[in-house]
Amino acid sequence: MGKAKKQSLQDETVDLSMAEKILVHYKDVDGCLIPVLQKIQNEYGYLRETIINLVSERLNMSVSEIIGVATFYSQFHLKPRGKHIIKVCCGTACHVKNAKSLSAKIVGRLKINANETTEDRMFTFEEVSCLGACGIAPVVVVDKDVHGTLSPDKLEDVLDRYVKPAA
Ligand code: FES
Repeated sequence: MGKAKKQSLQDETVDLSMAEKILVHYKDVDGCLIPVLQKIQNEYGYLRETIINLVSERLNMSVSEIIGVATFYSQFHLKPRGKHIIKVCCGTACHVKNAKSLSAKIVGRLKINANETTEDRMFTFEEVSCLGACGIAPVVVVDKDVHGTLSPDKLEDVLDRYVKPAA
């Protein structure tokens, strides 16, 4: 059992110095897990296994406790994320305007399902609840850009802009 754990640690070669710095900074702060995870995620993009093990050691908490917190809050990610985050709204207003056809377009084009990232780490696709822009349903947000009244064809054009950014 111990052997398997060592192997899974070995397959990630990551510079832990930034994580160490963050942990030293919070070493004597009670209840610091969430800010520590936020800062570490900002640095590394997601909470990889090696880092969770390090946090566990330094904060003297079990790995399962840390994963429990990380999975409770949607802001934390345990898997790598893409350079661009595509959020398809599945709230009621978007649903009745056929948001499903937008999800289907993404699945067909990027060959990933919801909550997955393309192999080249360009895109992560998420289905989310109401984004607060029901007046322009159906809505897709890519990174911080809101795209409304979309059809599958218009979404195709939107995605093109992120694949081939304007010169
Ligand atoms: S339901 Fe999609 S923005 Fe509100």
